Amino acid sequence: MLDRFGRIINYLRLSVTEKCQLNCGYCRSGEACKCGDELTAEQLIQISRVCVSLGISKIRLTGGEPLMRGDIIDIAEEIGKLEELKELTMTTNGQKLDLCASELYKAGIKRINISLDSLDSERYKSMTGGNIERVLSGIEAAKKTGMNPVKINVVLLKGINDGEMENFLRFSKECGLICRFIELMPLGKFSENPELRITMNDILKQHPELKSTGRVLGAEREFRFENSTTAGIIAPMSEPFCASCNRIRILSDGTLRPCLGCDLEIPLGGFLGGADEILAAEIEKGVQDKPMRYTMRDCEKPFRDMSRIGG
Ligand code: 5AD
Repeated sequence: MLDRFGRIINYLRLSVTEKCQLNCGYCRSGEACKCGDELTAEQLIQISRVCVSLGISKIRLTGGEPLMRGDIIDIAEEIGKLEELKELTMTTNGQKLDLCASELYKAGIKRINISLDSLDSERYKSMTGGNIERVLSGIEAAKKTGMNPVKINVVLLKGINDGEMENFLRFSKECGLICRFIELMPLGKFSENPELRITMNDILKQHPELKSTGRVLGAEREFRFENSTTAGIIAPMSEPFCASCNRIRILSDGTLRPCLGCDLEIPLGGFLGGADEILAAEIEKGVQDKPMRYTMRDCEKPFRDMSRIGG
């Protein structure tokens, strides 16, 4: 699909649930998840089929936490069968990953992103409420299946985990992972705390040895560190990549969100279960409404938690 600014839209982030067992301040506003209507597996599969027919070649399953759904393997397996789909991936918090990594791999998930904001178990617990041992087992299980790459998402927060970059680099080198350091976006509980944000510029100042490799992989800019490890920096706030954005999001209640950082949402629920062509026309219309740039700003009341949007 082409949007009205000539951008090729070929990447769908599909949230399968709002549920999550963690409570990360950058993701949730702290309110308990209301977790309203969730699409059925059939509806998620219809959406994926229609999107692929429209030219979507990459689907990432997100949440909430996608592994909170009991039928996630069936969903992945059915989506994985779509012939024109080139890539099926997932972003997970890793808490339940060791239990199902090999089934996910068999279903067609050959690469995966795992959120891990600290390598210190106490700090990880205080940032997320989760158990780091579960994530580490999940990472190991994912590596064992042959998933490649396995990427680690680290949202950097000033004074909290920003002293851990070297540790993450050592860890990623040892374990054969790719780390991505992400600038805090104003969503969730921390949306009113822009002072927590570490920008790409801050990182480059603190690490003068860092050299850009010139490679840009979607949202991620690749850098080479001293120990020859490469890592990614994702800088949605200081270096927005709207001009090359190729993605749309569909939330777990069937809402199409053409841009992460704009409140425009198009409910697709009424078109599910009917003819694929009608659903396709609605999605195409929504893509035409994708704005040129996001409008999210610091210190504005967050319109949505990331836990609902799916990252
Ligand atoms: N700012 C930046 N990144 C975020 N993520 C979630 N919330 C935010 C935020 N407010 C990242 C997490 C997760 C990915 C999907 O999005 O690292 O892995």
